[in-house]
Amino acid sequence: MRKDRLPTKPIIVLLLFVIFSGNSSSTTEPQYMVLLPFLISTGTQEKVCVQLSHLNESVTLSATLEYQGENRSLIDDVVSKKDVFTCIPFSLPKAKSQSQVAFITVLVKGATLEFRSRKSVLVKNSESLVFVQTDKPIYKPGQTVQFRIVSLDENFHPVNEMVSMAVPFR
Ligand SMILES: *[C@@H]1O[C@H](CO)[C@@H](O)[C@H](O)[C@H]1NC(C)=O
Ligand SMILES: *[C@@H]1O[C@H](CO)[C@@H](O)[C@H](O)[C@H]1NC(C)=O
Repeated sequence: MRKDRLPTKPIIVLLLFVIFSGNSSSTTEPQYMVLLPFLISTGTQEKVCVQLSHLNESVTLSATLEYQGENRSLIDDVVSKKDVFTCIPFSLPKAKSQSQVAFITVLVKGATLEFRSRKSVLVKNSESLVFVQTDKPIYKPGQTVQFRIVSLDENFHPVNEMVSMAVPFR
């Protein structure tokens, strides 16, 4: 393949090494980290990631999502490894108002350990862009107009969305 691609690999190895050596130089006390996006767009897959290190007993890892008055369990698992990094995917339906707040609670509980983190995230309705394309720029009277409608999200990915009515204009 092309020679200019070659340096990529050594750089990745170096970065991973820095991250891992940073971790192992810290204390051996049980540690927890919860990673969560600050802003969540509805309808797209998001995730909450949990890192547990130096566990000294098996624990239950649970995560609950509170959104629009409902609680939904994202995970409820027994973890018996010392070190775990797991990401839990979820997606939210469209909010009733333009922006809302959801709460994600992560609970790690063992016989002697307990850790709870409750964080709020801002939920934003994702806007879709609707494009209408006709088969001709100009029509003569009586000609049939053929058209297609494409709906894209903010990242220009197609959205599976129903268009309830298309009103022609003159
Ligand atoms: C695990 O570590 C925590 C914090 O260092 C300590 O309080 C707890 O007693 C330990 N549990 C066991 C089963 O060793
Ligand atoms: C959702 O969970 C929170 C915190 O655990 C609790 O205060 C609230 O009452 C629950 N709501 C419902 C609808 O179960």
